[in-house]
Amino acid sequence: MTLGVDSGKFNQTPFDFMANNSNRQINILEETEKILLANPGFSNIAYIECIACKSKFPANSNPLYNCPKCNDILDVKYKFPKDLNPQELKALWKLRRTSIKPEDRSGVWRFREIIPFCDNPKNVVTMNEGNTPLLDAPTCARYVGLPKLLVKHQGFDPTGSFKDPGMSSAITQAKILGAKAVACSSTGNTSASEAAYARRAGMLPIVLIPEGQISFGKLSQSLDYGALTIQIYGDFDKAMDLIMKVAPLLNVYVVNSINPFRIEGQKTMVLELLEQLDWQVPDRIVVPGGNLGHASSIGKALRELKSLGFIKKLPKITVVQAKGANPLYKAVTSKHPDNLIAVHAQTLATAIKIGNPISWKKAMDGIKTTDGWVTQVTEQEIADAKAIIGRDGIGCEPASAVTVAGLKKIVKEGTDVAFDKNETVVAILTGHILKDPDYTVRYHRGELYEEFVTQTQVIHKAGPIKSNFANKPIFVEADEEKLKQIISNALKTY
Ligand code: F0G
Repeated sequence: MTLGVDSGKFNQTPFDFMANNSNRQINILEETEKILLANPGFSNIAYIECIACKSKFPANSNPLYNCPKCNDILDVKYKFPKDLNPQELKALWKLRRTSIKPEDRSGVWRFREIIPFCDNPKNVVTMNEGNTPLLDAPTCARYVGLPKLLVKHQGFDPTGSFKDPGMSSAITQAKILGAKAVACSSTGNTSASEAAYARRAGMLPIVLIPEGQISFGKLSQSLDYGALTIQIYGDFDKAMDLIMKVAPLLNVYVVNSINPFRIEGQKTMVLELLEQLDWQVPDRIVVPGGNLGHASSIGKALRELKSLGFIKKLPKITVVQAKGANPLYKAVTSKHPDNLIAVHAQTLATAIKIGNPISWKKAMDGIKTTDGWVTQVTEQEIADAKAIIGRDGIGCEPASAVTVAGLKKIVKEGTDVAFDKNETVVAILTGHILKDPDYTVRYHRGELYEEFVTQTQVIHKAGPIKSNFANKPIFVEADEEKLKQIISNALKTY
């Protein structure tokens, strides 16, 4: 079977290859592997594995999001070297902080031995992501009823949310694969992060966001970073569905957390956290749950670190959802926890307004293996917890505040067992306070309602300023054909 590919010379990327062979009946996986093995920039210790049927595929084959055999979601796996020495690596990772190389200073690539899918530093796309602080939050601790509470604030990441480490790894993979354009559906933070990282890598960022359902802070980021910003008249789940249908047809690489390479970068938050705790494993990690990529990445990191001998015990992963967007909570408290039923999501914490989370099976796996927990909190509980986090001089966006709200609840009510107040607990704050200032101002003015419609009215205007570099959003019906046309046009002129 020859495809005109000279295995001795690397002359096309998987994306070129797919574009040139899109209508041929061939084993794309087999053939792209041949191309990739001929390229010295590719790691050969990484592979992709289906979470359900365990089928294995080359890591740098064409873009894979679902198992070609059983359609379930995928994980990146590694044949880790047998002589990998945790003590030596811990020392090396610490030392890299003093290096001047971008890939050493990055809070993702500093830990590259744990995500060894890219062995050519030239492909690394980084903006010094990670490196976020672990802060003591005494006001929050008192509020939830614990003697001490630590918060890991990923709002300090370059685009203001925890998405950046995973985006660094996904865009790096996009670069390895030779992608020209990347896309996501987003409640605002993934789109902001994708837009920034894609631009850094010279790719066209395409983002689909639910019209009227993301904060202006986040929308402003994707506009300013120059993303093709498409506001869908529909919700996140509909946008996700559409992008998964349209992007592969147009050779656009999807960087939502269904893309297993996103999870790889996200894992490094756990390494950084453990390093900040001098490798003393906490008892519990509390994380917000939306599309459930973050909870999944924490579970994967912990399992790998334990099997590689870095840690001996596993912290309990505790996922908190908004009551109006609680499909995982509903599943675990139902008679059939292995059957997640999508909900129509409704919450002011728009980042986690997701009814049909893609990564729920992976998240569930992490919760089960760590003896974790899932809880839900009301809009009132979220709003109050956010204000308390602010009082510690920390602040966060509403979705992040579910962690403190959820903790308060389980400290009071217990989990399946009574909550031990001596537990070392780390709450993960996922987004910066400035992501959604409208919510904050409304709360503090006493104008926050579970449901409200806003209208901006201009009373007087004078002295117009030209929008010389305007990047106008496009409004479109939730329609596959119309969406295809918009993206195709943009791709032609990029
Ligand atoms: N916190 C913030 C600030 C988020 O933006 C998100 C998700 C989550 C928590 C939940 O994380 O999806 O991994 O469970 N935001 C996505 C987005 C969906 O499009 O920005 P998850």
